[in-house]
Amino acid sequence: MIRAIYPGSFDPVTLGHLDIIRRASQKVDELIVGVLNNGGKTPLFSIDERVSMLKEVTGGLSNVKILSFSGLLVDFARQTEATIVVRGLRAISDFEYELQMAQTNSILNSEVDTMFLTASNDYSYLSSTTVKEIASFGGNIEKFVPKEICSRIYEKYSGKR
Ligand code: PNS
Repeated sequence: MIRAIYPGSFDPVTLGHLDIIRRASQKVDELIVGVLNNGGKTPLFSIDERVSMLKEVTGGLSNVKILSFSGLLVDFARQTEATIVVRGLRAISDFEYELQMAQTNSILNSEVDTMFLTASNDYSYLSSTTVKEIASFGGNIEKFVPKEICSRIYEKYSGKR
């Protein structure tokens, strides 16, 4: 039984995230999408909203589970008995941060290996931050996020423009 975690903030989930979720879920028995609930940064969407959007857009994937976590990723991996952490790599600029995280996590918990999936070409430059910026100016985000959640993103900015 191979269980992997795909961790992130998912504020909000993008088509790039969903692409990694779909592809990773085909390679393992169970994929847990771990939604970070650490106090540090203030997200646009609450933890419940992020979990609910992810559940909605991954509904058709039977071996994908959405859970929130706080604290260290390696501790969450221990609790869930996951042995793989999946991360998406978009451009070379992601690499240094990802390598640092993967190596630190492997020192903290040697039972966990990080596996990288390269982003599909269409999503190489896509990030939640870009999506929020476009939506905040009323731009079209349909090519960047699952259509089911577009209106939830615009709602966050309605009245602020
Ligand atoms: O996709 P993101 O938002 O950059 O995800 C970052 C995430 C959630 C993977 C990372 O911040 C994380 O694992 N946070 C949990 C705290 C932790 O374990 N920190 C040590 C990592 S070296």
